[in-house]
Amino acid sequence: MPLHRNITRVDDDAKGMHAWIVTVQRQDERVSRPFSDGVHGGRKEALAAAIAYRDLLLARHSQFEHQVWVRSRLRRNNVSGIPGVGRYETLNPKTKHRTIFWLATWVDEHGRSRKRKFSVPYHGEHRAKQLAIAERERQLFRVCALKDAAPVNATPPPPPPSANADWLARSQAAVWHPCTQMRHHAHADSPEYLPLAPIARGQGAWLHDFDGKRYLDGISSWWTNLFGHANPRINAALRAQLKTLEHVMLAGFTHRPVVELSERLSALTGGVLGHAFYASDGASATEIALKMSFHYWRNVGRPDKTEFLCLAGAYHGETVGALAVTDVAIFKDAYAPLVRHAARVLPSPDARLAEPGETPADVARRAAAALDRYLQEHGGRTAALIVEPLVQGAAGMVMHDPEYLRLARALCDRHEVHLICDEIAVGCGRTGTFFAHEQAGIHPDLLCLSKGISGGYLPLSVVLCRDAIYEAFLDDSTARAFLHSHSYTGNPLACRAALATLDIFAEDDVLAANRLRAQQIAAALEPLAVHPHVRHMRQRGMIAAFDVITNDPHFSRRFYRAALDNEALIRPIGNTVYWMPPYIVDAAEIAHLGTATARALECALA
Ligand SMILES: Cc1ncc(COP(=O)(O)O)c(C=O)c1O
Repeated sequence: MPLHRNITRVDDDAKGMHAWIVTVQRQDERVSRPFSDGVHGGRKEALAAAIAYRDLLLARHSQFEHQVWVRSRLRRNNVSGIPGVGRYETLNPKTKHRTIFWLATWVDEHGRSRKRKFSVPYHGEHRAKQLAIAERERQLFRVCALKDAAPVNATPPPPPPSANADWLARSQAAVWHPCTQMRHHAHADSPEYLPLAPIARGQGAWLHDFDGKRYLDGISSWWTNLFGHANPRINAALRAQLKTLEHVMLAGFTHRPVVELSERLSALTGGVLGHAFYASDGASATEIALKMSFHYWRNVGRPDKTEFLCLAGAYHGETVGALAVTDVAIFKDAYAPLVRHAARVLPSPDARLAEPGETPADVARRAAAALDRYLQEHGGRTAALIVEPLVQGAAGMVMHDPEYLRLARALCDRHEVHLICDEIAVGCGRTGTFFAHEQAGIHPDLLCLSKGISGGYLPLSVVLCRDAIYEAFLDDSTARAFLHSHSYTGNPLACRAALATLDIFAEDDVLAANRLRAQQIAAALEPLAVHPHVRHMRQRGMIAAFDVITNDPHFSRRFYRAALDNEALIRPIGNTVYWMPPYIVDAAEIAHLGTATARALECALA
């Protein structure tokens, strides 16, 4: 059936105003919306907005061209016992995907028929129905109230607020989301189904969608957010920076935020790591550290030292170079042929590997003995060992004893091998100290930071290095320099966000406050430690995790969906459920995470 589309002009002589009504209709779906001078600026702007909106609707409708509307309105308009609330299904004959939604319809105060969808994948069947009924009642009440009170020639109401359903459809049509099989966003009835949540705004530890639902950000938005969303202090610092300098290239130029940040980060290492090199994301920091180590050995006349070591389960990013030191099959296997010089993978000091009677420190000593054996034979051609100190995040919050770092440091010194600490996830206070390696009383040769360093605001990563490494690149020859760059290296806004983040650490004594928070987290998770399906409850500072014993290959997704239904963003890694909340969660929010986790666990195991 052809699309019916229209833009008509309506004059309101009493008010001297004009409106353009856009209508797009196809089969039994009809969308209409007014654009008036008053709301949209002048007449020209209102007309332009109307045309743009019509084109948007047409583009969106054309995506449905291949779909057949299945007339399955159950007991037409009367499913819930409330007239004007219906349940609909669409079926794509090619893919056989069904889409179900609930629709509230009503007649507004201008006599126009209106409707609003609540999609089942996003809300869940029961909630979508409830929302549709509530919307209809709200609208009817509003219309009655307006009819009693409003003058006859009232201007058309402002456009309705954006609804989740709109953003979901547009995102799926235009955005390729990271680390996602996009088809998993499509089938609500598939066990693999992964909901896509449109977020309208963030405030503190909470993310809010367009329909008024909220989620407690239990994993700090992929481990980045330290002091909550829309943090007033970081916002103010960024506003001030915007007034002076948004960006300048860092080759040949420098600026205040990058100088101050480099000085302060070096001071936090006790001055041991004297220079800072910048990039935008964690994987780039990994690549920089690997290249620096490799190039250092060449510059000091040891070109045979070219190999890297990493730990079982290591994750250092997903660019091709970073994949060489990453040992997570799901990220690596497909691209293995691209990785020319994969690192040697050595045993992890994972404390869960303790034999009966062994302590985590014993496991650390066993793993260090394997490192020792390897270096005795191959130390001469090894450039660096890269580790995630104390917690291997993407492996499933795998924790180890600081003893491993102490022994690894000593072995690297003995065999002249660099120790690279990747603190992209575990730095910035996450494990209880500002840097995780502090707990072993050591310093690395190269230190990678990202994620929390900018408070979760802007892409920023940094590699700090010892002066001896920096100095090995000083020469008259350009070829001996570190010829690596990214356009946004040392971006002033990102550096300013990082400085504001460091200010909060200093002013609020965050590490001390987190010790109390960590205790509250432990107490909230304690009841789950004895759950028959829970193993290896573990915690290091502001990271807590446990493994779930289940054969269900879809456990992780089922848990994730159930947690969202309980207003919490908790995204398990395989069968490992973990919390990594922002450093501003209060006791009530920690309790909320506890309740949501317990409910989601029951639901996922049911
Ligand atoms: C330890 C570690 N290194 C590197 C990375 C890669 O960082 P990005 O995702 O910013 O590239 C991550 C990301 O999770 C990480 O956890």
